[in-house]
Amino acid sequence: MARSRLAIEGGTPAITQPVPPMYPGGMRIGIEEEQAVLDVLRSKRLFRYYGPGDSVSRVDMLEKAFAAHVGVRHCIAVSSGTASLMGGLAGLGIGPGDEVIVPAYTWIATASAVVALGAIPILAEIDESLTLDPEDVERKITSRTKAIITVHMRGGPCRMDALLAIAQRHGLSLLEDVAQANGASYGGRKLGSLGHIGAFSLQFNKIITCGEGGLITTDDETIWKRALMYHDVIGGGRNGIPEEETLLGINLRMSELQGAVALAQLNKLEGVIGDMRRNKAVLKASVTELAQQKGITLRDEPDPEGDAGICLVFFAPSSELAQQTAAALKAEGLPASVIYSGQKDYHVYCDWTPILRQRSWAGNAPWGWHPPVAYDRDMCPRTLDLLQRAVHLDISPDLTGEHIEEMSDGLTKVFNALL
Ligand SMILES: Cc1ncc(COP(=O)(O)O)c(C=O)c1O
Repeated sequence: MARSRLAIEGGTPAITQPVPPMYPGGMRIGIEEEQAVLDVLRSKRLFRYYGPGDSVSRVDMLEKAFAAHVGVRHCIAVSSGTASLMGGLAGLGIGPGDEVIVPAYTWIATASAVVALGAIPILAEIDESLTLDPEDVERKITSRTKAIITVHMRGGPCRMDALLAIAQRHGLSLLEDVAQANGASYGGRKLGSLGHIGAFSLQFNKIITCGEGGLITTDDETIWKRALMYHDVIGGGRNGIPEEETLLGINLRMSELQGAVALAQLNKLEGVIGDMRRNKAVLKASVTELAQQKGITLRDEPDPEGDAGICLVFFAPSSELAQQTAAALKAEGLPASVIYSGQKDYHVYCDWTPILRQRSWAGNAPWGWHPPVAYDRDMCPRTLDLLQRAVHLDISPDLTGEHIEEMSDGLTKVFNALL
């Protein structure tokens, strides 16, 4: 049967209308966010703890609403996702001398937050779920390990049962980095409520956004109080924590303007997730059918129902084929890429140069304070192999039925020609 000519070879692209940019919540900013910002500006109360008049704090409202959404007792709104990781680690009591296991595939901030607390990031491999490989985590545990940061990458929940069991067996804390999976769940529970503490980002790329911002979630009273003290420069003073218990904080606070936008976005989270999941289900069905014919494997999903739906990933047999497939899909107009194409990418450990070279603001601290730890660019070969073979498709919540049909056609065209 004659195949239709690929767009990369001069044929007609499968997609006739450009797909929307991949800023899920960002593209839904509308009258609600505008009104919320105007209300804050008109009240002149831009700071969560005080201002003229008696308007309620939007940051306070956001914390209460987000805690209820995640299903935990406590939430602290902060200035960024990195701040949520730092506050989370401080909440857990992580500091100099401690080792914290982090995945080799995550935004560099996951590891930088560990260094910022004076602790040492220890890298562990990911598996076909693109999240921490529990077996490698167990291999990396030493007598200095205090915590594991598990990162729910690209909307997909980690292998939480196995990771929680490891943390419990070794007496370790488990911090969930939910920056890329806000609204997703595992076993029917929202991510950020399963480990000891959750850290979220509201940066512009994320599922919902206020430009920059972060949220910390926990059910544990002690961890919450510690993180609360850390996030405010006057420690516990403002939060009713007795002076004799107060620890020194820094300033990671969220502003009322951020809080107002985040609150409006939170109201849209379920809608965004629902639309992405619906779109993904259709595309996943077509890729699954094609993949079966071609012997291609899809990303493993520890809880497919809980997945946020932001992307579809499949593994090509080789990195060359992954590059060719992604290039051909892109030419057809699909939002496709290879996760690690070899171009500098701060999501992949081998491009975390300051960490690999153990360079920080103060000579080689914190590494110099510890027994030597070695890093090198090839230390997680499985991670590199998987990411170099992983073809990634963005799934916007705003795809139309026509987009999805055309994306399926484009996938069929490219799979039949190349794979
Ligand atoms: C997995 C992960 N962790 C942490 C962060 C840090 O968040 P932020 O950029 O808000 O500091 C990000 C995103 O940027 C991320 O993707």
